[in-house]
Amino acid sequence: MTMPEMRFDGRVCIITGAGGGLGRSHALELARRGAKVLVNDLGGALDGSGASTSAAQLVVEEITSLGGQAAPNHDSVATPAGGAAIVQAALSAFGRVDVVVNNAGILRDKAFHKMDPTAIDDVVDVHLKGALYVSQPAFRLMREQGYGRIINTSSASGLFGNFGQANYGAAKAGLAGLTRVLALEGAGHGITVNAIAPIASTRMTADLLGELATRVSPESVSPMVAYLAHEDCSVNGNVYSVAGGRIARIVVVETHGVVLPENSAEAVRDHLALIDRSGAEGYHEPTSLDAETMIIAKALAND
Ligand code: NAI
Repeated sequence: MTMPEMRFDGRVCIITGAGGGLGRSHALELARRGAKVLVNDLGGALDGSGASTSAAQLVVEEITSLGGQAAPNHDSVATPAGGAAIVQAALSAFGRVDVVVNNAGILRDKAFHKMDPTAIDDVVDVHLKGALYVSQPAFRLMREQGYGRIINTSSASGLFGNFGQANYGAAKAGLAGLTRVLALEGAGHGITVNAIAPIASTRMTADLLGELATRVSPESVSPMVAYLAHEDCSVNGNVYSVAGGRIARIVVVETHGVVLPENSAEAVRDHLALIDRSGAEGYHEPTSLDAETMIIAKALAND
């Protein structure tokens, strides 16, 4: 028996930053599967400067020429008013919101000691606050209708670290945190919230990927986004590394830890190897703050 194709007929999907790169690919993939897509893009340069309506418009034309349904939107994700306008545009065009893919992004890389405050503000505003501002009005609708799917775009830069990306990495790690919290808040309302940490050949990575560039198309990332956006999606609160067809779950773990015999900095120093130990005895993988607190309470009780 073949399983049915994963369709999105009747579903409305907002994809931010969908005028190019990964967002465009996600938009085409979801539209191809029957979704009505709000193609949001400010149409600026990679560093966030400028704006143009053509990026989103071209993707809408691409989708409609293939027989799909899409509408353009040019608001910035980076303000509460912009987020509200984006969600309103989806409602005006298609009457509901089922899926939000927070994908819009800019880069302003610099070694931390040389980074100016605008490079910090602008990058945090677009990636992290942008996801909050677009997700919040959508989340309210999703709670009311008892159904929703949110996919955030995190990055290895923040989850594992990358030189020169203090602003970007902090924002991207923040998106992993947002994913965990919204997953818990949405769980009782038919809402799942997951994140991807992609690698793909786009203008953002044009000079960075070297030989890998030919193996990591944006189109190889979109199937995971489509899965996480579908009603069959059975996971909530997870973060996935997605690159060139290779997908892996990225996990936050905690060592078994040590209960110090004495409350002092010297005791920390003397037990550091045990506190930091890795591997052999396995890790805890707390599913929430409450779950971690239980682990701590148990360790202290056993002492
Ligand atoms: P891209 O530059 O092609 O796409 C980002 C899009 O967001 C652009 O079309 C841009 O106009 C739009 N945008 C920027 N600021 C906006 C705003 N304020 N409001 C609305 N739209 C805005 O780059 P790419 O690679 O497709 O990036 C997509 C997402 O994936 C980003 O969040 C990026 O940080 C993330 N990512 C990409 C990786 C890669 O290897 N390409 C690696 C890890 C994360």
